[in-house]
Amino acid sequence: MAGPACIPKVSRLLGAFSNPKQVTRGFAGGVQTMTLIPGDGTGPEISASVMKIFDAAKAPVQWEERNMSAIKGPGGKWMIPPEAKESMDKNKTGLKGPLKTPIAAGHPSVNLLLRKTFDLYANVRPCVSIEGYKSPYTDVNIVTIRENTEGEYSGIEHVIVDGVVQSIKLITEEASNCIAEFAFKYARNNHHSNMTAAHKASIMRMSDGLFLQKCREVAENCKDTKFNEMYLDTVCLNVVQDLSQFDVLVMPNLYGDILSDLCAGLIGGLGVTLSGNVGANGIAIFESVHGTAPDIAGKDMANPTALLMGAVMMLRHMRMHDYAAKIATACFATIKDGKSLTKDLGGNAKCSDFTDEICCQVKDLD
Ligand code: IPM
Ligand code: MN
Repeated sequence: MAGPACIPKVSRLLGAFSNPKQVTRGFAGGVQTMTLIPGDGTGPEISASVMKIFDAAKAPVQWEERNMSAIKGPGGKWMIPPEAKESMDKNKTGLKGPLKTPIAAGHPSVNLLLRKTFDLYANVRPCVSIEGYKSPYTDVNIVTIRENTEGEYSGIEHVIVDGVVQSIKLITEEASNCIAEFAFKYARNNHHSNMTAAHKASIMRMSDGLFLQKCREVAENCKDTKFNEMYLDTVCLNVVQDLSQFDVLVMPNLYGDILSDLCAGLIGGLGVTLSGNVGANGIAIFESVHGTAPDIAGKDMANPTALLMGAVMMLRHMRMHDYAAKIATACFATIKDGKSLTKDLGGNAKCSDFTDEICCQVKDLD
Protein backbone atom coordinates (compact mmCIF):
# COMPACT_ATOMS: atom_id res chain seq x y z
CA MET A 1 0.00 0.00 0.00
CA ALA A 2 1.48 3.32 -1.02
CA GLY A 3 2.03 5.91 1.67
CA PRO A 4 1.08 9.53 1.31
CA ALA A 5 4.83 10.32 1.16
CA CYS A 6 4.62 9.59 -2.54
CA ILE A 7 2.23 12.45 -3.21
CA PRO A 8 4.74 15.36 -3.13
CA LYS A 9 6.90 13.35 -5.51
CA VAL A 10 3.99 13.11 -7.92
CA SER A 11 3.46 16.83 -8.00
CA ARG A 12 7.19 17.43 -8.41
CA LEU A 13 7.44 15.01 -11.28
CA LEU A 14 4.52 15.97 -13.38
CA GLY A 15 3.95 19.34 -14.89
CA ALA A 16 0.68 20.65 -16.17
CA PHE A 17 1.61 22.25 -19.43
CA SER A 18 1.05 25.84 -20.13
CA ASN A 19 1.41 26.61 -23.77
CA PRO A 20 1.69 30.05 -25.36
CA LYS A 21 0.10 28.69 -28.55
CA GLN A 22 -2.86 26.98 -26.94
CA VAL A 23 -5.36 27.08 -24.14
CA THR A 24 -4.81 23.97 -22.03
CA ARG A 25 -7.91 21.83 -22.00
CA GLY A 26 -9.89 21.53 -18.81
CA PHE A 27 -11.31 18.18 -17.73
CA ALA A 28 -15.03 18.67 -17.96
CA GLY A 29 -15.79 15.08 -16.91
CA GLY A 30 -16.89 12.19 -19.08
CA VAL A 31 -14.81 9.75 -21.05
CA GLN A 32 -12.06 11.31 -23.19
CA THR A 33 -10.82 9.67 -26.36
CA MET A 34 -7.06 9.70 -26.81
CA THR A 35 -4.96 8.45 -29.67
CA LEU A 36 -2.64 5.55 -28.86
CA ILE A 37 0.33 4.79 -31.09
CA PRO A 38 1.71 1.49 -29.70
CA GLY A 39 4.85 1.80 -31.85
CA ASP A 40 7.53 -0.76 -32.70
CA GLY A 41 9.65 -3.31 -30.81
CA THR A 42 8.55 -3.42 -27.17
CA GLY A 43 6.01 -0.63 -27.86
CA PRO A 44 2.91 -2.88 -28.09
CA GLU A 45 3.79 -4.67 -24.80
CA ILE A 46 4.35 -1.53 -22.78
CA SER A 47 1.26 0.08 -24.33
CA ALA A 48 -0.82 -2.93 -23.28
CA SER A 49 0.60 -2.53 -19.78
CA VAL A 50 -0.41 1.16 -19.66
CA MET A 51 -3.94 0.33 -20.86
CA LYS A 52 -4.29 -2.37 -18.20
CA ILE A 53 -3.18 0.01 -15.43
CA PHE A 54 -5.54 2.73 -16.72
CA ASP A 55 -8.38 0.18 -16.59
CA ALA A 56 -7.45 -0.77 -13.02
CA ALA A 57 -7.51 2.93 -12.07
CA LYS A 58 -10.86 3.34 -13.89
CA ALA A 59 -9.34 6.33 -15.71
CA PRO A 60 -12.04 7.78 -17.98
CA VAL A 61 -9.99 7.29 -21.11
CA GLN A 62 -10.93 5.52 -24.30
CA TRP A 63 -8.03 4.68 -26.60
CA GLU A 64 -8.09 5.04 -30.36
CA GLU A 65 -5.23 2.86 -31.60
CA ARG A 66 -3.39 3.93 -34.74
CA ASN A 67 -0.40 2.57 -36.63
CA MET A 68 2.38 5.00 -37.23
CA SER A 69 4.88 4.82 -40.06
CA ALA A 70 6.32 7.01 -42.80
CA ILE A 71 4.41 6.62 -46.06
CA LYS A 72 4.92 8.27 -49.44
CA GLY A 73 2.19 10.77 -50.20
CA PRO A 74 1.34 12.69 -53.39
CA GLY A 75 4.48 14.01 -55.08
CA GLY A 76 6.61 11.46 -53.18
CA LYS A 77 6.57 13.50 -49.99
CA TRP A 78 6.93 11.51 -46.76
CA MET A 79 3.91 11.71 -44.47
CA ILE A 80 2.28 9.88 -41.57
CA PRO A 81 -0.76 7.66 -42.31
CA PRO A 82 -3.90 9.80 -42.80
CA GLU A 83 -5.89 7.72 -40.23
CA ALA A 84 -3.29 8.56 -37.60
CA LYS A 85 -3.28 12.24 -38.51
CA GLU A 86 -7.09 12.43 -38.46
CA SER A 87 -7.19 10.74 -35.07
CA MET A 88 -4.66 13.19 -33.56
CA ASP A 89 -6.36 16.20 -35.19
CA LYS A 90 -9.65 15.11 -33.62
CA ASN A 91 -8.50 13.95 -30.18
CA LYS A 92 -5.67 16.51 -29.76
CA THR A 93 -3.95 14.28 -27.19
CA GLY A 94 -1.99 11.12 -27.75
CA LEU A 95 0.36 8.60 -26.22
CA LYS A 96 3.16 7.15 -28.31
CA GLY A 97 5.35 4.09 -27.81
CA PRO A 98 8.87 3.96 -29.32
CA LEU A 99 9.20 4.14 -33.10
CA LYS A 100 12.15 2.70 -34.96
CA THR A 101 14.42 5.18 -36.77
CA PRO A 102 16.54 4.02 -39.71
CA ILE A 103 20.20 5.14 -39.68
CA ALA A 104 21.36 7.37 -42.53
CA ALA A 105 19.07 5.83 -45.17
CA GLY A 106 15.47 4.99 -46.12
CA HIS A 107 12.49 6.92 -44.83
CA PRO A 108 13.01 9.86 -42.49
CA SER A 109 12.56 9.42 -38.74
CA VAL A 110 8.86 8.99 -37.98
CA ASN A 111 9.46 10.80 -34.70
CA LEU A 112 10.63 13.87 -36.59
CA LEU A 113 7.80 13.56 -39.09
CA LEU A 114 5.35 13.61 -36.17
CA ARG A 115 6.99 16.69 -34.66
CA LYS A 116 6.82 18.48 -38.01
CA THR A 117 3.27 17.34 -38.88
CA PHE A 118 1.81 18.70 -35.63
CA ASP A 119 4.32 21.49 -35.01
CA LEU A 120 5.25 19.88 -31.68
CA TYR A 121 7.55 22.75 -30.88
CA ALA A 122 8.24 22.07 -27.20
CA ASN A 123 9.67 18.93 -25.67
CA VAL A 124 9.62 18.56 -21.89
CA ARG A 125 11.57 15.86 -20.02
CA PRO A 126 11.39 15.96 -16.23
CA CYS A 127 14.03 13.84 -14.49
CA VAL A 128 13.23 13.15 -10.86
CA SER A 129 14.92 10.55 -8.63
CA ILE A 130 12.72 7.54 -7.91
CA GLU A 131 12.77 6.34 -4.34
CA GLY A 132 14.06 2.79 -4.06
CA TYR A 133 15.66 2.69 -7.49
CA LYS A 134 19.39 2.99 -7.08
CA SER A 135 20.93 5.41 -9.55
CA PRO A 136 24.18 7.43 -9.74
CA TYR A 137 22.62 10.52 -8.10
CA THR A 138 20.02 11.13 -5.40
CA ASP A 139 17.47 13.94 -5.10
CA VAL A 140 17.55 14.82 -8.77
CA ASN A 141 14.78 17.18 -9.83
CA ILE A 142 15.63 18.75 -13.16
CA VAL A 143 13.63 19.46 -16.32
CA THR A 144 14.96 19.85 -19.85
CA ILE A 145 12.89 21.92 -22.27
CA ARG A 146 13.98 21.45 -25.84
CA GLU A 147 13.06 23.34 -28.98
CA ASN A 148 11.69 20.47 -30.99
CA THR A 149 11.20 21.53 -34.60
CA GLU A 150 14.29 23.23 -36.01
CA GLY A 151 17.96 23.84 -35.15
CA GLU A 152 20.27 21.02 -36.12
CA TYR A 153 17.20 18.82 -36.77
CA SER A 154 15.82 20.93 -39.62
CA GLY A 155 16.93 18.20 -42.05
CA ILE A 156 18.38 20.62 -44.60
CA GLU A 157 21.44 18.80 -45.86
CA HIS A 158 23.10 18.63 -49.25
CA VAL A 159 26.26 17.66 -51.10
CA ILE A 160 28.19 20.73 -52.19
CA VAL A 161 30.84 18.83 -54.17
CA ASP A 162 31.93 15.22 -53.89
CA GLY A 163 33.17 14.60 -50.37
CA VAL A 164 31.71 17.79 -48.93
CA VAL A 165 28.28 17.90 -47.33
CA GLN A 166 26.58 20.80 -45.67
CA SER A 167 23.97 20.63 -42.92
CA ILE A 168 22.04 23.76 -42.02
CA LYS A 169 21.18 24.61 -38.45
CA LEU A 170 18.06 26.70 -38.76
CA ILE A 171 17.16 29.02 -35.88
CA THR A 172 14.20 31.36 -36.17
CA GLU A 173 13.11 34.21 -34.00
CA GLU A 174 9.58 32.81 -33.88
CA ALA A 175 10.47 29.29 -32.69
CA SER A 176 13.06 30.62 -30.22
CA ASN A 177 10.53 33.02 -28.77
CA CYS A 178 7.87 30.28 -28.51
CA ILE A 179 10.14 27.86 -26.69
CA ALA A 180 11.42 30.57 -24.33
CA GLU A 181 7.85 31.59 -23.48
CA PHE A 182 6.83 27.99 -23.03
CA ALA A 183 9.80 27.31 -20.74
CA PHE A 184 9.16 30.28 -18.47
CA LYS A 185 5.42 29.55 -18.26
CA TYR A 186 6.18 25.93 -17.48
CA ALA A 187 8.58 27.02 -14.73
CA ARG A 188 6.01 29.35 -13.19
CA ASN A 189 3.13 26.86 -13.38
CA ASN A 190 5.21 24.11 -11.86
CA HIS A 191 6.91 26.04 -9.08
CA HIS A 192 10.40 26.09 -10.55
CA SER A 193 12.37 29.21 -9.74
CA ASN A 194 15.50 28.93 -11.82
CA MET A 195 15.99 28.77 -15.60
CA THR A 196 19.25 28.08 -17.41
CA ALA A 197 19.61 28.57 -21.17
CA ALA A 198 22.26 26.24 -22.61
CA HIS A 199 24.01 27.59 -25.72
CA LYS A 200 27.24 28.04 -27.67
CA ALA A 201 26.67 31.61 -28.77
CA SER A 202 30.41 32.23 -28.47
CA ILE A 203 30.89 30.04 -31.53
CA MET A 204 27.51 29.95 -33.29
CA ARG A 205 27.16 33.65 -32.77
CA MET A 206 24.21 34.26 -35.06
CA SER A 207 22.11 31.10 -34.57
CA ASP A 208 22.63 30.45 -30.85
CA GLY A 209 22.95 34.21 -30.47
CA LEU A 210 19.38 34.65 -31.70
CA PHE A 211 18.11 31.81 -29.52
CA LEU A 212 19.78 33.33 -26.47
CA GLN A 213 18.53 36.82 -27.29
CA LYS A 214 14.92 35.56 -27.28
CA CYS A 215 15.49 33.79 -23.95
CA ARG A 216 16.88 37.02 -22.47
CA GLU A 217 13.90 39.04 -23.73
CA VAL A 218 11.35 36.63 -22.28
CA ALA A 219 13.35 36.49 -19.02
CA GLU A 220 13.07 40.27 -18.75
CA ASN A 221 9.29 39.88 -18.43
CA CYS A 222 9.46 36.93 -16.03
CA LYS A 223 11.39 38.35 -13.12
CA ASP A 224 10.00 35.76 -10.70
CA THR A 225 12.21 33.13 -12.36
CA LYS A 226 15.95 33.55 -11.97
CA PHE A 227 17.60 33.40 -15.38
CA ASN A 228 21.13 32.17 -16.11
CA GLU A 229 22.86 31.50 -19.39
CA MET A 230 25.65 28.95 -19.65
CA TYR A 231 27.73 27.32 -22.37
CA LEU A 232 26.49 23.85 -23.18
CA ASP A 233 29.83 22.18 -22.37
CA THR A 234 29.92 23.95 -18.99
CA VAL A 235 26.35 22.78 -18.33
CA CYS A 236 27.45 19.16 -18.95
CA LEU A 237 30.39 19.55 -16.60
CA ASN A 238 28.34 21.22 -13.90
CA VAL A 239 25.40 18.81 -14.16
CA VAL A 240 27.67 15.93 -13.17
CA GLN A 241 29.68 17.92 -10.60
CA ASP A 242 27.09 20.14 -8.91
CA LEU A 243 23.58 19.43 -10.01
CA SER A 244 22.01 21.57 -7.29
CA GLN A 245 22.48 24.78 -9.30
CA PHE A 246 20.05 23.60 -12.01
CA ASP A 247 16.28 23.52 -12.08
CA VAL A 248 14.83 24.03 -15.59
CA LEU A 249 17.09 23.99 -18.65
CA VAL A 250 16.03 25.42 -22.03
CA MET A 251 17.97 24.90 -25.24
CA PRO A 252 17.95 24.35 -29.00
CA ASN A 253 17.04 20.97 -30.47
CA LEU A 254 20.24 18.88 -30.62
CA TYR A 255 21.56 20.18 -27.31
CA GLY A 256 18.25 19.13 -25.76
CA ASP A 257 18.50 15.67 -27.28
CA ILE A 258 21.91 15.13 -25.73
CA LEU A 259 21.34 16.85 -22.39
CA SER A 260 18.04 15.08 -21.80
CA ASP A 261 19.79 11.71 -22.11
CA LEU A 262 22.52 12.93 -19.75
CA CYS A 263 19.88 13.93 -17.20
CA ALA A 264 18.03 10.63 -17.69
CA GLY A 265 21.29 8.89 -16.79
CA LEU A 266 21.30 10.66 -13.43
CA ILE A 267 18.03 9.02 -12.38
CA GLY A 268 18.76 5.55 -13.73
CA GLY A 269 18.29 5.77 -17.47
CA LEU A 270 15.74 5.90 -20.23
CA GLY A 271 13.66 3.06 -18.80
CA VAL A 272 12.15 5.51 -16.32
CA THR A 273 12.24 8.76 -18.31
CA LEU A 274 9.09 10.34 -19.68
CA SER A 275 8.63 13.00 -22.29
CA GLY A 276 5.91 15.34 -23.49
CA ASN A 277 5.71 17.07 -26.85
CA VAL A 278 3.48 20.09 -27.02
CA GLY A 279 2.37 21.63 -30.27
CA ALA A 280 0.41 24.36 -31.84
CA ASN A 281 -3.35 23.93 -32.26
CA GLY A 282 -3.70 22.32 -28.84
CA ILE A 283 -2.02 19.05 -29.81
CA ALA A 284 0.18 17.18 -27.34
CA ILE A 285 1.85 13.78 -27.64
CA PHE A 286 3.36 12.01 -24.64
CA GLU A 287 5.97 9.29 -24.87
CA SER A 288 8.76 7.28 -23.32
CA VAL A 289 12.23 8.54 -24.24
CA HIS A 290 13.73 5.09 -24.85
CA GLY A 291 13.96 3.24 -28.15
CA THR A 292 12.27 0.09 -29.43
CA ALA A 293 14.61 -2.41 -27.63
CA PRO A 294 14.24 -5.06 -30.39
CA ASP A 295 16.44 -7.54 -28.44
CA ILE A 296 13.75 -8.03 -25.80
CA ALA A 297 10.65 -7.34 -27.94
CA GLY A 298 7.90 -9.92 -27.55
CA LYS A 299 9.58 -11.53 -24.52
CA ASP A 300 7.48 -9.91 -21.79
CA MET A 301 10.64 -8.36 -20.34
CA ALA A 302 10.22 -4.64 -21.06
CA ASN A 303 9.84 -2.03 -18.35
CA PRO A 304 6.68 0.04 -18.96
CA THR A 305 7.55 2.76 -16.40
CA ALA A 306 8.67 5.45 -18.86
CA LEU A 307 5.57 5.13 -21.04
CA LEU A 308 3.34 4.90 -17.97
CA MET A 309 4.86 8.11 -16.59
CA GLY A 310 4.34 9.71 -20.01
CA ALA A 311 0.71 8.64 -19.75
CA VAL A 312 0.51 10.15 -16.25
CA MET A 313 1.83 13.43 -17.62
CA MET A 314 -0.86 13.19 -20.28
CA LEU A 315 -3.52 12.83 -17.56
CA ARG A 316 -2.17 15.96 -15.86
CA HIS A 317 -2.32 17.77 -19.17
CA MET A 318 -5.97 16.69 -19.43
CA ARG A 319 -6.58 17.99 -15.90
CA MET A 320 -7.30 14.46 -14.64
CA HIS A 321 -5.08 15.06 -11.63
CA ASP A 322 -6.62 12.47 -9.30
CA TYR A 323 -6.14 9.63 -11.75
CA ALA A 324 -2.60 10.85 -12.50
CA ALA A 325 -1.71 10.87 -8.81
CA LYS A 326 -3.25 7.45 -8.21
CA ILE A 327 -1.34 5.77 -11.06
CA ALA A 328 1.99 7.48 -10.31
CA THR A 329 1.71 6.67 -6.60
CA ALA A 330 1.03 3.00 -7.39
CA CYS A 331 3.98 2.83 -9.78
CA PHE A 332 6.41 4.46 -7.33
CA ALA A 333 5.16 2.25 -4.50
CA THR A 334 5.73 -0.86 -6.63
CA ILE A 335 9.29 0.24 -7.40
CA LYS A 336 9.97 1.12 -3.75
CA ASP A 337 8.58 -2.21 -2.50
CA GLY A 338 10.97 -3.93 -4.91
CA LYS A 339 9.05 -7.24 -4.82
CA SER A 340 8.11 -7.33 -8.48
CA LEU A 341 10.57 -5.49 -10.68
CA THR A 342 11.63 -5.97 -14.27
CA LYS A 343 15.24 -6.96 -14.96
CA ASP A 344 16.47 -3.46 -15.80
CA LEU A 345 15.10 -2.27 -12.43
CA GLY A 346 17.10 -4.96 -10.65
CA GLY A 347 14.45 -7.67 -10.35
CA ASN A 348 13.44 -10.72 -12.33
CA ALA A 349 9.73 -10.11 -12.86
CA LYS A 350 8.08 -10.10 -16.26
CA CYS A 351 6.56 -6.94 -17.66
CA SER A 352 3.15 -8.52 -17.00
CA ASP A 353 4.00 -9.28 -13.32
CA PHE A 354 5.20 -5.72 -12.73
CA THR A 355 2.04 -4.44 -14.43
CA ASP A 356 -0.19 -6.66 -12.28
CA GLU A 357 1.56 -5.43 -9.14
CA ILE A 358 0.92 -1.79 -10.12
CA CYS A 359 -2.74 -2.69 -10.83
CA CYS A 360 -3.03 -4.17 -7.29
CA GLN A 361 -1.48 -1.04 -5.78
CA VAL A 362 -3.86 1.15 -7.81
CA LYS A 363 -6.86 -0.80 -6.53
CA ASP A 364 -5.57 -0.56 -2.95
CA LEU A 365 -5.60 3.21 -3.27
CA ASP A 366 -9.38 3.29 -3.97
C1 IPM B 1 14.54 11.54 -28.77
C2 IPM B 1 15.12 10.57 -29.78
C3 IPM B 1 14.84 11.11 -31.17
C4 IPM B 1 15.64 12.39 -31.34
C5 IPM B 1 15.13 10.15 -32.32
C6 IPM B 1 14.41 8.83 -32.14
C7 IPM B 1 14.79 10.76 -33.65
O1 IPM B 1 16.47 10.32 -29.56
O2 IPM B 1 13.32 11.75 -28.79
O3 IPM B 1 15.31 12.08 -27.97
O4 IPM B 1 16.81 12.35 -31.74
O5 IPM B 1 15.07 13.45 -31.08
MN1 MN C 1 17.25 11.40 -27.82
